[in-house]
Amino acid sequence: MKILRVKDYREMSRTAANIISAQVILKPECVLGLATGSSPEGTYRQLVEWYGKGDLDFSRVTTVNLDEYKGLTADHEQSYARFMHRHLFDHVNVDPARTFLPDGSEPDSERACADYDAVIERVGGVDLQLLGLGRNGHIGFNEPDSAFAPRTHCVRLTASTIEANRRFFERAEDVPREAYTMGIGTILRAKKILVVVSGEDKAEALRAVCRGPVTPSMPGSILQFHPDVTIVADEAALSRL
Ligand code: F6R
Repeated sequence: MKILRVKDYREMSRTAANIISAQVILKPECVLGLATGSSPEGTYRQLVEWYGKGDLDFSRVTTVNLDEYKGLTADHEQSYARFMHRHLFDHVNVDPARTFLPDGSEPDSERACADYDAVIERVGGVDLQLLGLGRNGHIGFNEPDSAFAPRTHCVRLTASTIEANRRFFERAEDVPREAYTMGIGTILRAKKILVVVSGEDKAEALRAVCRGPVTPSMPGSILQFHPDVTIVADEAALSRL
């Protein structure tokens, strides 16, 4: 694992955006695996800015997102599909027909997950996967568990994740309890992985991911086994390393 230490969230975002830009420039028809949440927002902002200056072209890029809440339609204000439109897709020239997320409106979990695995296979797998890190060490919505999930599956979100996502919903009971997520196996098949981590509240998870044992109870720890992982983390997030 390569760890890039940066000062703060702003520098983390610029560094991550630089790495993604390099990928898009070197392979314009690449497949980007994307994440939602606070961690990559600044990265997307930076990419949009550089696109606006004419430095980037997303016209041949395909995107596959990590996860989506089960039970939310794509146009729901808090769906990850809306998040992606708000923060990236609506501001760059990516072809909407080549942006993919799990279908949160599909009630049949088996079908939703099988369909999404088929999409990932059809696009030829992920060139660069962007990840955030949960406070409990989750990646995508792969929560601490007794085994690593190989493929897309439906998860029950843990109390800690529901609590962390609470801020986006009006009432606690509105936070979805389940989500569809890419499996750990799929994440590990990405050619390159880029993790963005900011803030003190991630410091313990980041320490465990980088230095602790590889265990499904700390899902991100599996990244130790991937040959090409870059972690861009700020000083607060690295305070326990
Ligand atoms: C989001 C995702 C999650 C987040 C993680 C960190 O698509 O897969 O694993 O990356 O929960 O969230 P933030 O960045 O909001 O702290």
